[in-house]
Amino acid sequence: MEQSRSYALVTGASGGIGREFALLLAAAGRTLVLVGRNSGRLEAVKVELAGPRVAETVVIPCDLSEPGAATRLHASCAKKGLVVDTLINNAGSGLFGHAIDLDPQGIEAMVNLNITSLTNLCSLFGRDMRKRSFGEILNVGYQRLLPDARLCQDGLRHQCRHRER
Ligand SMILES: NC(=O)c1ccc[n+]([C@@H]2O[C@H](COP(=O)([O-])OP(=O)(O)OC[C@H]3O[C@@H](n4cnc5c(N)ncnc54)[C@H](OP(=O)(O)O)[C@@H]3O)[C@@H](O)[C@H]2O)c1
Repeated sequence: MEQSRSYALVTGASGGIGREFALLLAAAGRTLVLVGRNSGRLEAVKVELAGPRVAETVVIPCDLSEPGAATRLHASCAKKGLVVDTLINNAGSGLFGHAIDLDPQGIEAMVNLNITSLTNLCSLFGRDMRKRSFGEILNVGYQRLLPDARLCQDGLRHQCRHRER
């Protein structure tokens, strides 16, 4: 594979840890695909990058909490001829509180972002990597961002106690 066509794709590159990944990778000479919802913030990170290949940086705005986002992102890379051999699944956010108190649309968006898109990006870019017999994926996550059964049970217990009074 030509090194010139090899990209590191960072999701959630517009701020926080993702921006730090982008700065480090660019300084190490990697060519980057920066992904996030806010194109202005992604472009601002692009300006901050330093390294031999920063001019080739590609910005792709994409809301990974939307259904089908991973497929669209993968297709967009393919259309642009970008070979992604490093995938950093960093974008993530969470709702806090009892699952039974959360808005269903918010839960769906959170699961889409933290689980569905992450898993589909691994699958879609992973199969390309398998074909090329080369690639690396780093998943960044936070276990407590997922409302688990315990939170649900705690919430129910709380509601039941309230009703008994
Ligand atoms: N900070 C911590 O202490 C900590 C601890 C453990 C794990 N983590 C994990 O590390 C990762 C990064 O955390 P962080 O603290 O750097 O977060 P952050 O500062 O809130 O940044 C999150 C990044 O994800 C992007 N993002 C959020 N929702 C998105 C969506 N729907 N579609 C596409 N991009 C989206 C944001 O960009 P846009 O707003 O432009 O979309 C932003 O670039 C997360 O997965 C988090 O769970 C963080």
